[in-house]
Amino acid sequence: MSAAPPNPAAPTPAILAAEGLTVRFGGLEAIGGLDFAVARGAIHGLIGPNGAGKTTVLNALTGFVRPAAGRLSFDGAEIGGLGVAAIARRGLARTFQNIRLFGAMTVLESVLVGGHRGFGASPLALVLHTAGARAAERAAIARAGELLDFVGLGREVAGRVATTLSYGHQRRVEIARALMSEPKLLLLDEPLAGMNAVEKAEIADLVRAVRARGVSVLLIEHDMQIVRALCDRLTVLEYGKRLADGDPEAVLADPAVQAAYLGRAR
Ligand SMILES: Nc1ncnc2c1ncn2[C@@H]1O[C@H](COP(=O)(O)OP(=O)(O)O)[C@@H](O)[C@H]1O
Ligand SMILES: [Mg+2]
Repeated sequence: MSAAPPNPAAPTPAILAAEGLTVRFGGLEAIGGLDFAVARGAIHGLIGPNGAGKTTVLNALTGFVRPAAGRLSFDGAEIGGLGVAAIARRGLARTFQNIRLFGAMTVLESVLVGGHRGFGASPLALVLHTAGARAAERAAIARAGELLDFVGLGREVAGRVATTLSYGHQRRVEIARALMSEPKLLLLDEPLAGMNAVEKAEIADLVRAVRARGVSVLLIEHDMQIVRALCDRLTVLEYGKRLADGDPEAVLADPAVQAAYLGRAR
């Protein structure tokens, strides 16, 4: 793509920017030339009807699908074309629309696997189980414990098999796992889906607490009350294209946005 002229009105330097992002699945253009940016420190909502392409955007940002075109920059560097692990190492973490916890793992182990930087020791040191590796392992376990407290589960659940927890609690395990990598930006794909009003409010508070730790958030969510209360800015997708972008109140009052939801309401 040709270089865009500098935008003097840009309020905050973006932590994440997509320009002309395009994703195709065979003949289907799931994302078509999408431009959007997430400001550093923001809770940015990504909304739109089912099938609009929201999850595909997250998959493209995190390297799970390869874009057909476009530029992706994260924290000042190009990430387009990098693989899943390389993007994660740069500080982009995510949760999944369908919870992905491994059947046999305890809660503690599930959180520890998020620490993709390893235990801070070299692989050889880990194999030899040196004093340094043991200290790093203890530090990782301590951090995982802190994160279990942070997400509101507490350390008591550390030894339980993660998939035996309630759905809402499994969501929290996923968030703790994502935070284990010390991300700069956390991508949350419908973290409130399937929850009752009380659980939704709790997770909304948790998202605010994540941001208060200095982690920017990109949130996919359908509950417009929550979106309105939580997000600093919204991007609306419809059929893989940007339908609206900006201040939540203005975006949600936009007749085109309302029509998109009414026309394809589920
Ligand atoms: N891996 C894939 N292969 C083929 N089509 C896909 C794939 N992932 C998503 N799609 C299609 O891309 C479109 C956008 O899907 P998705 O990103 O899941 O939407 P949303 O998250 O907004 O509900 C849909 O038409 C969906 O069927
Ligand atoms: Mg989705």
